Parts: sequence; structure tokens; C-alpha cells
Amino acid sequence: MDFIDKRIDAYAEKSSGLESALLSKLHRETYLKTYMPRMLSGHLQGRILSMLSKMIQPRLIVEVGTFTGYSAICLAEGLAENGKLITLEANDEVAAIAQRYFDEGGFNQIELQNGDARELIPAINGPIDLAFIDADKENYTHYWNLLLPKMRNGGLIIADNVLWSGKVLDPIENQDAETKALLQFTQLVEADDSVDQLLLPVRDGLLIVRKK
Ligand SMILES: C[S@@+](CC[C@H](N)C(=O)[O-])C[C@H]1O[C@@H](n2cnc3c(N)ncnc32)[C@H](O)[C@@H]1O
Repeated sequence: MDFIDKRIDAYAEKSSGLESALLSKLHRETYLKTYMPRMLSGHLQGRILSMLSKMIQPRLIVEVGTFTGYSAICLAEGLAENGKLITLEANDEVAAIAQRYFDEGGFNQIELQNGDARELIPAINGPIDLAFIDADKENYTHYWNLLLPKMRNGGLIIADNVLWSGKVLDPIENQDAETKALLQFTQLVEADDSVDQLLLPVRDGLLIVRKK
């Protein structure tokens, strides 16, 4: 579902700076070669991620769900000097595409870890300044529980797809497992006094959470 009028969306994209040649090439290759290319963040969301990252200049970013690397590159644009972005991906094929683009763009601050994020996150040492949750929806709460204790105060956790094409508003009896998981996750965040949160109805819903 498109929440924003297509013309407004196009105008917002056009007014948010040009997509780099590298990101535009990655976008094209993802649509040509992958199943479910819509998982890629895209230009407007990519610019939001880049801007948030530049605002806090993170020393450590953790991304859960690399796919072909579009959002990782956007987030890496804001890294502090000597900062590092660890991105976690379970699927070898898309991880190989992502790694190729990190290499082509000279993003040597990005470390791609291939495997199940549920097993990889516990081995990451904090403090984490920025985390982006964008993998399997059923595990969002699990990722939250693993990441929150490792976040520094003032750090941001950003979660994608929290509107799930609007399905979170459907009657509970019509909801599938992913919708239920996303709803429970958003409610858990809302009830947590240790954070402030903002749900932006951009693309498929971006939840931006700041640890107090
Ligand atoms: C929505 S895509 C990520 C899109 C990417 N962040 C972007 O904006 O371009 C979700 C990715 O999470 C990966 N994934 C799903 N479950 C995972 C898990 N348990 N551990 C690591 N990666 C996982 C999928 O293989 C898929 O590539």
C-alpha cells in the first residue's frame, strides 16, 4: 500500500538530493536479479536513514537484515571517523551482492556477517549508537530484546515495516503471524518507559526509537 500520494512521494524524492550512481546501480541490479526487490529501502527512506545517521555520527551501527546492502550504504554515510557498521544477513546470495557493492564503493567500515542474526547479535559488543531492524518480522521483539541492553543512552533503534501495508489496523482475527508480531512489537516499545518513540508513516512505516 502507498500511504503517500505518488506525486508527493516523487516530489519528496526529487527534493531530497540525488541518488548516488552506486546506489542507483544497486537499485537496478536488485530489481533485475532478486526475488522480492521491494524489500530494498529505496531513495527516500535511504535519505532518511542517512540523515539520522549523520545527525548522531555513530561509532557503531548494527543492521539486522542487509539484503543487497542499500540501507547499509545509506547508514554508513553518517559513521564517525573510525566508526563501524556491522550488518547481518542470513541469505548468502544477497549477501554476495551487498559485499560487491560495499567493495565497489570503498565502504571498508562495513562488516558483513553472514548468518542468523539471532545467533550473531549476542556476540556484538556495545555500546551501539544506531541499530536498524529490518529482517524477519516475527523476530522483531527478539531483536529488540537483544539490542536494547547494548544501546548507549541517546542511541537510536529504527525498525522498518511497522505499518505492514496497513495490516496492523485490520481486526485481530484477520491478522497473519507477521502482522501480529509487528503489532506486539510496536505495543512493547510504546509501553517501555526507557525510550521515546516516533512512528513515521513513510513507505511501510518507520519506527524511530531513542533510548533515554
Ligand atoms: C527487508 S530485507 C532488508 C532490506 C535492507 N535493509 C534494505 O533496506 O535494503 C530483510 C532481509 O533480512 C534477511 N533475514 C531474514 N531473517 C534473518 C535472520 N534471522 N538473520 C539475518 N538475516 C535475516 C533476509 O534474508 C532479507 O535479506
